[in-house]
Amino acid sequence: MCVEAAPKSKCGGKSNCGCGWHGHAKTAALNPRIIRTIKFGEEAGHQCSCSGGGRCPREYLAPTGYVLGGFLILHLVVNSLALWPGKFQSAVNRVHSLGVLLPILEIGLIAVLIIHIAVGLRLMRRDKLNFITGDHFHGSPMRQWLQRVTALIMLAFILFHVITLHRWFGGRFDPNNAFSSASHAIWQFWHGQPTGSFPNLLFAQFYLLGIVASVYHLTNGVATGAEVLGWVKTPAAQERFWRICVIASPALLLAGLTAWYALAVR
Ligand code: HEM
Repeated sequence: MCVEAAPKSKCGGKSNCGCGWHGHAKTAALNPRIIRTIKFGEEAGHQCSCSGGGRCPREYLAPTGYVLGGFLILHLVVNSLALWPGKFQSAVNRVHSLGVLLPILEIGLIAVLIIHIAVGLRLMRRDKLNFITGDHFHGSPMRQWLQRVTALIMLAFILFHVITLHRWFGGRFDPNNAFSSASHAIWQFWHGQPTGSFPNLLFAQFYLLGIVASVYHLTNGVATGAEVLGWVKTPAAQERFWRICVIASPALLLAGLTAWYALAVR
């Protein structure tokens, strides 16, 4: 069995942790060319020295996931201000007053997201959405399965969300008219159809699904990421931290649902 609670594994055989990528150089950098060469298939075998020589792809997923999580929390909290359109507009103005720093931050965030998605998809290529039982460090088989299902929902949602809203892609969000442009993009996506019509409701429900999936993915990811990074080592500490994450998650869900409700054309 591969013991991978901390990155320094002490396993005696084939990896059972779900990543399939032990044996690569400890010095591997966050380099897309290296990520592309990762062998996740069975042929990759388990070549780690079992004394901490291998670097697990989850060591990339965890820190990039934490950065994305910080953004997600900020994004949902700012959007929940839509309950008060004036405050929402002020918050958007403050973000856009960052000037040239804003596109730099956006490009950085997109780069982090691309690395996370590339490593995540490589991990999932081997096991697909199979329910993996046995000992591994993903919390539990069900938690890991849901982590992967929510990852795919988020992938579809983030692509749709960014392409239809962001100014770089000619999206509909207008920073000078924050409330009504966001509201129309979500609740009246289908032009010419009234709010609440079936096609428009479908798009609004897709947003709901995206918010719920993101909150789960982040809640579970923070808990398992802390295990990967070796911050919580004993099973008791891991269980305690998982509970803390679960207790904290309704606050984030509430922020997301508040934004979704507030932007409903009233
Ligand atoms: C705002 C967006 C996202 C955030 C905040 C986020 C956060 C996280 C965190 C914190 C982890 C835990 C790392 C670990 O336990 O090893 C994780 C794992 C993962 N993420 Fe994400 N993620 C996001 C988007 C995505 C997307 C779009 C995908 C699509 C491929 C994805 C795929 C995965 C996969 C496959 C895992 C690991 C599952 C496993 O080890 O079985 N994530 N994510």
